[in-house]
Amino acid sequence: MATLLHIDSSVLPGEASSSRSVADAFRKAWEEQHPQGTVIYRDLAADPVPHITAVAWSAGFAAPSERTPEQSAAFAARVQLIEELEQADAVLIGAPMHNYSIPSTLKAWLDNVLLLGRTAGETPSAQGTPVVVVASRGGSYAPGTPREGYEFVQNYLEAVLKGTLGLDLDFIVPELTMAPRNPAMSELIPLYEASRERAFADAATKAKELAERVAA
Ligand SMILES: Cc1cc2nc3c(=O)[nH]c(=O)nc-3n(C[C@H](O)[C@H](O)[C@H](O)COP(=O)(O)O)c2cc1C
Repeated sequence: MATLLHIDSSVLPGEASSSRSVADAFRKAWEEQHPQGTVIYRDLAADPVPHITAVAWSAGFAAPSERTPEQSAAFAARVQLIEELEQADAVLIGAPMHNYSIPSTLKAWLDNVLLLGRTAGETPSAQGTPVVVVASRGGSYAPGTPREGYEFVQNYLEAVLKGTLGLDLDFIVPELTMAPRNPAMSELIPLYEASRERAFADAATKAKELAERVAA
């Protein structure tokens, strides 16, 4: 049975959020292919994971027998998140842009999950697992736009998810989501609408492709 790890990190609820809506469409298309499958869901905005601490971090370098009770407890919480990733046949992450980067809640999840010698290092434990990131943003940072150099979501996640965790990374990018709300962006509404339509179409296509690949 296929397992999908689905992570949301938008602070906006339901349909008000592009990443939640597009990820939801992806998940529904995936579930159609895998009606008996499992979806592990984490809403990092509603239920943030703890920031990494010295205790939790150092526990990753200590032998189990040498860990203090505090280190063992903190490490167990990290291992739960790590196992969710390792169990997944595919991963879906909603990652809206916050001040040019990812939400701090998603960063906290990554800080817990990246563990040298297990998920990271020479043979990352989740190597090759496909991950689709819905990288929503209020503006546009596409090549050729004035703010191209301010894009630290895709660049960063490429380094971490692909370069470090070894995941097979793909993006869906609903952009210009602030256009309907910001009068200064009203001319961009048609581009926003086109991007949104494309994102939903991509979600359906990619979910189906991936679900078939995982089943094979
Ligand atoms: C704290 C915060 C910071 C933001 N910073 C940026 C930014 O730097 N660039 C941008 O294009 N949009 C920015 N936005 C707008 C969001 O990226 C945009 O509204 C996005 O659609 C939110 O994600 P969601 O629709 O998936 O919920 C920011 C939003 C919030 C809440």
